[in-house]
Amino acid sequence: MGDNSTSDIIINKSATSHIGAVDFENLSFGNTFTDHMLVCDFRNGAWEKPVIKPYEPFLIDPSAKVFHYGQAIFEGMKAYKDTNDDVWLFRPEENFDRFNKSAERLAMPSVPEEVFIGGMKKLIEIEKEWVKKGLGNSLYIRPFMIAIGSGVIAAPSTQYRFMIILSPARSYYSGEVKVIIAEHYSRAANGGIGAAKAAGNYSAQFYPTKLANEMGYQQIIWTDDATHTKLEEAGTMNVFFRINDTLYTAPVSERILDGVTRKSIIELAARENIKVEVRPVLVSELIEAADNGSLKEIFGAGTAAVINPIVGFSYQDKYHELPKLENSMALELKEKLTNIQYKVAEDTFGWTVKI
Ligand code: COI
Repeated sequence: MGDNSTSDIIINKSATSHIGAVDFENLSFGNTFTDHMLVCDFRNGAWEKPVIKPYEPFLIDPSAKVFHYGQAIFEGMKAYKDTNDDVWLFRPEENFDRFNKSAERLAMPSVPEEVFIGGMKKLIEIEKEWVKKGLGNSLYIRPFMIAIGSGVIAAPSTQYRFMIILSPARSYYSGEVKVIIAEHYSRAANGGIGAAKAAGNYSAQFYPTKLANEMGYQQIIWTDDATHTKLEEAGTMNVFFRINDTLYTAPVSERILDGVTRKSIIELAARENIKVEVRPVLVSELIEAADNGSLKEIFGAGTAAVINPIVGFSYQDKYHELPKLENSMALELKEKLTNIQYKVAEDTFGWTVKI
């Protein structure tokens, strides 16, 4: 146990593949899935043998707690192919640890490493053809766990299903990203589940994000729920602000997800002698910096979105456009990070793990 051993995985391969029908040049994020998935059920207080089987729908009782109480968590990861056709994961232990922290917070059982990482490696090995070479191409990995025990009593389930599905991916956002700074709605509160990658954290954002979309904005930058004065994170990404030549980002907390891309940027920036301050960032500072011209960049950081420059933001009905820079730190850091992920540059951090 604990050695990522995959000998206990049951493999039931699909007789056919639909890879030939996929247009890899025109993928819309998260809509295409590979031929196989991993399924592992928790029953009678223990995990059963994981099974890799053809990707297909499955039946669950309508009273399953996932439907009524949203007892569900997930992770977002990516696999990358280098020029030698080797496939790499990026800091998988970070996602594994965070997944089990989310599980604890949602009163779910922890998933063993040999199922989460060992099973993931085996699944990706089988689906290697789905990982395309070239910067920008990746295989998005979605491990998740749902409560499948039946009964609508509001208590944790006794049965769970852990699954991994894979989706070939290019970019998450197509086009420019403009954001609104939240003045009323909140993503999370102290003591809540904001630090967990719980499904409900995302569905709770759908309505305010829909309102923002209707106004022409792609995302919301969430502020703290108590005062709405501190900038926290964007819906699908952590967020960085460049004022003059320093990057600022909020510290992780009970309200903010401990993003793997976020922490990698902080470490990468330190290596590149880019100053990063991890401290609460006030909305008032941002407005002042936008008004006096010292606000140079805002960018989001997340697995799906990678590093995504934000072109402008709205606050109290006033739109602030960001300057178009020749020397964007966001793009510099994105290039350095993706060069590590695709094995174009040496991985001096030891972040990449071969499948
Ligand atoms: C990711 O970046 O992988 C996430 O989990 C965000 C998701 C909403 C796409």
